[in-house]
Amino acid sequence: MLRAWDTNFHPTFAAGRAVYLQISELIATEIRRGRLQPGTALPGTREIAKQLGVNRKTAVLAYEELLAQGWLEAQTTRGTFVSSQLPESTPTAFAPAAGRPVEAPGFRWQDPSEPEQPPVAIPGALVFNDGTPDARLAPVATLASAYRRVMQGRGRRNQLGYDNPLGSLPLREALSRMLNQDRGLSTTPASICLTRGTQMALYLTARLLLQPGDVVAVENPGYPPAWQTFRLLGAELAPVRVDEEGLCVDELEALCQRRPVRALYLTPHHQFPTTVTLRAARRVQLLALAARYGVAIIEDDYDHEFHFHYQPMLPLASADPHGVVIYISSLSKLIAPALRVGYVTGPAAFVAALGRLRALIDRQGDTVLEQAVADLIDEGEIKRHTRRAHAEYHTRRDALADALRQLAGNFVEFVLPAGGMALWVTFREDVDLELVTEELARRKVVITPGSRYYLEGPAANSVRMGYAALTPAELAHAVEQLGAVLRQHTSGAKSTT
Ligand SMILES: Cc1ncc(COP(=O)(O)O)c(C=O)c1O
Repeated sequence: MLRAWDTNFHPTFAAGRAVYLQISELIATEIRRGRLQPGTALPGTREIAKQLGVNRKTAVLAYEELLAQGWLEAQTTRGTFVSSQLPESTPTAFAPAAGRPVEAPGFRWQDPSEPEQPPVAIPGALVFNDGTPDARLAPVATLASAYRRVMQGRGRRNQLGYDNPLGSLPLREALSRMLNQDRGLSTTPASICLTRGTQMALYLTARLLLQPGDVVAVENPGYPPAWQTFRLLGAELAPVRVDEEGLCVDELEALCQRRPVRALYLTPHHQFPTTVTLRAARRVQLLALAARYGVAIIEDDYDHEFHFHYQPMLPLASADPHGVVIYISSLSKLIAPALRVGYVTGPAAFVAALGRLRALIDRQGDTVLEQAVADLIDEGEIKRHTRRAHAEYHTRRDALADALRQLAGNFVEFVLPAGGMALWVTFREDVDLELVTEELARRKVVITPGSRYYLEGPAANSVRMGYAALTPAELAHAVEQLGAVLRQHTSGAKSTT
């Protein structure tokens, strides 16, 4: 009989974790450290229980755990030993190691998008973004506690399994009520598919609609992330001009007469990036045209809540008897982009197919988050937040407009938008926006020239200046810097060209 190893363990066991697991971890650690070599005999369970001051049953459980994990092996008549085949042995190299990360793939593949310069991250800078909300205003504490409550409750009831790929029913019910009451739509929970934000909704929609070579009409200027999705699926983009009344529907009609158009991607409420609202007469004309030519209208209603002057115009989807509109929105602008909750609604058969496609890609969304958001809607928390944010963004829009008029009025022009989260500011022809962008970055203020929103030229000398994420004081300071840079780099006098 081999002499069993004397443990020399004097452990103090932590509360809240099973003692047998703590013993098994202790022994596994000793094996890993090499203090216990393969083949070493262990004391019997009675003996080790005595050494460790625990009862024998606990020692038996600890050994069973180590046997199950492969750290120990039992030999029927001889006792228990450290396993000769340890579970964590060093893998054997079958060839010399590559030794460095591989850059270029050794296979055919497809990059989904044009490489884009990521915006320069400047610590502490004030950023005029595309128009994202101020997360400092969002009801994050309430949402966090709702999430925790839902997670714990569902865990206790063993309800953390698979759900409907269309998304959790309580949120679809809450959104359906909201869309029908506030936005004039006629939805049911079954005609809504939840997604992780607009971008996923666009991808799923485009995947069902498009075949390689199909033509998709898009606003010019417009929203490049949508264009990239359509291009990835093989679509050809056809730019349609946007003027002060929104999309030029006559131009779209001329395009439809020339060639078949499968879909139109549109931001009619506050056009991205120019902020114009599509006029009522054009909406009527557009819906009739889409029905006539069989064009699917993808309506992206990304910042519906923030409209300041008059009752917002209802979405195109509210007046669509022919089933041509696919309506997409998300909570990214209302709460925060990090909250990946979006949705699509449209003809019921199409939405059911979206659910089937979604199941193949992502199975389902974050159903705990979806339920937590539904609770916040039902408790009136989202409505309260919307009212607060609406008032604040209205103030911020006016603060930015005032600051621009006062501090840079000689250099810029803009039409005060009826809503949204950004101004579309056009600079004088002699202002070099690339240069101004660089100089401003040195002063810790970030703007991005709007030329990137054009599918084809000529691009306006404009910048989309998101105001929602900056306080009035931050806006004033940032525009002061802008004014200083403009004066430094141009003549200062109003150009006559
Ligand atoms: C035109 C447009 N649509 C949608 C979104 C929101 O996208 P997501 O819901 O994927 O965050 C944005 C955000 O910038 C946007 O500008």
